[in-house]
Amino acid sequence: MSQSLVDSIARIEAKARAAIAAATGADALEELQRIERAVLDKGGELNQILRGLKDLDAAGRRDAGQAANESKERLAAALAERRRALADGAIAAALAAERIDPTQPGPRRAPGHEHPVKAVMRELDDLFESMGFTVVDGPEVETDFFNFEALNIPPNHPARDAQDTFYVEGDNVLRTHTSGMQVRAMRKYGAPLRLVAPGRVFRNETQDAGHEHTFHQLEGLMVDEGISIGHLKGVLEQVLARLVGGEVRTRLRPHYFPFVEPGLELDFQCRICGGAGCSTCKRTGWIEICGCGMVHPKVLAAGNVDPEKYSGFAFGLGIDRLTMMRHAIPDIRWLMSGDLRFLRQFK
Ligand code: FA5
Repeated sequence: MSQSLVDSIARIEAKARAAIAAATGADALEELQRIERAVLDKGGELNQILRGLKDLDAAGRRDAGQAANESKERLAAALAERRRALADGAIAAALAAERIDPTQPGPRRAPGHEHPVKAVMRELDDLFESMGFTVVDGPEVETDFFNFEALNIPPNHPARDAQDTFYVEGDNVLRTHTSGMQVRAMRKYGAPLRLVAPGRVFRNETQDAGHEHTFHQLEGLMVDEGISIGHLKGVLEQVLARLVGGEVRTRLRPHYFPFVEPGLELDFQCRICGGAGCSTCKRTGWIEICGCGMVHPKVLAAGNVDPEKYSGFAFGLGIDRLTMMRHAIPDIRWLMSGDLRFLRQFK
């Protein structure tokens, strides 16, 4: 009787050992736990055998009891050993997976590049600097005074309608154009004076292929004795020829702005349709690029410059539209879309 129990114990142990050795792969630890429960736990196979000892004589109880206890110890040790081996293997595998080769080049990051609008702004700065103009910065949140009133646009003047904007706290607006810099600069630097002021401007505008609510202008202002419209035309022609070459036809036509007299507008022939008319140019064949004119005497006076002694020209170039015409971009909204497929074309 005791011999058959000892044999059973040996069989159980052999089966458990085989199962322990076979426990590999992702669920190996769970498999080991299952074996432990089935064989070594209170209700496990070996303990069930021990429960049968009471039917044996003293010698038989001793032999079978000893065999079961030794078997339990060996299996517990085998389980612990297998667990250790699995943990070592997992650590080795993790280390192997994480191994890096410091001699390999790192992941390549595509270098960024200038936004096409920024590129035109930078070129304009360089061009004007080469012609003796100073580049200055102005505030994007501007006072109503510099944005409108000092430019001969009193409250309730209809010209305010054409440049509706976002009013912010106090007597401030998000500037609708860079022209606020005219009186600011004259007050600060006096005459004679030659400067450009590029920057972002904002309007309460319905967007379409040619209109954005947030866009860029470059203000130009030259004040000196004897400045005429010929100087204005000469400077604009020089700059545009150098920026877009002979590729674009232009025209100058009279236009009303309260802060210049006379006032003009410069158009580019639409490069999208070649002048035939399309949605970009609203079927006119022309794109308005720049408002300009001779600085109104009232504006000179607001800048503390003597209109009897000095005259000047001013212009406000639309940089986004200039960029569109330079690269034949049919819709202004692409520029601020943030779409990298579009932007990567201008590397
Ligand atoms: C002005 O903003 C005047 N301050 C320009 C000026 C300066 C006149 C100095 C005389 C002397 P205007 O609203 O036309 O004018 O805008 C000037 C240029 O900015 C336009 O020719 C156009 O190129 C660009 N522009 C105007 N509105 C938009 C818009 N919503 N989206 C994109 N570009 C615009």
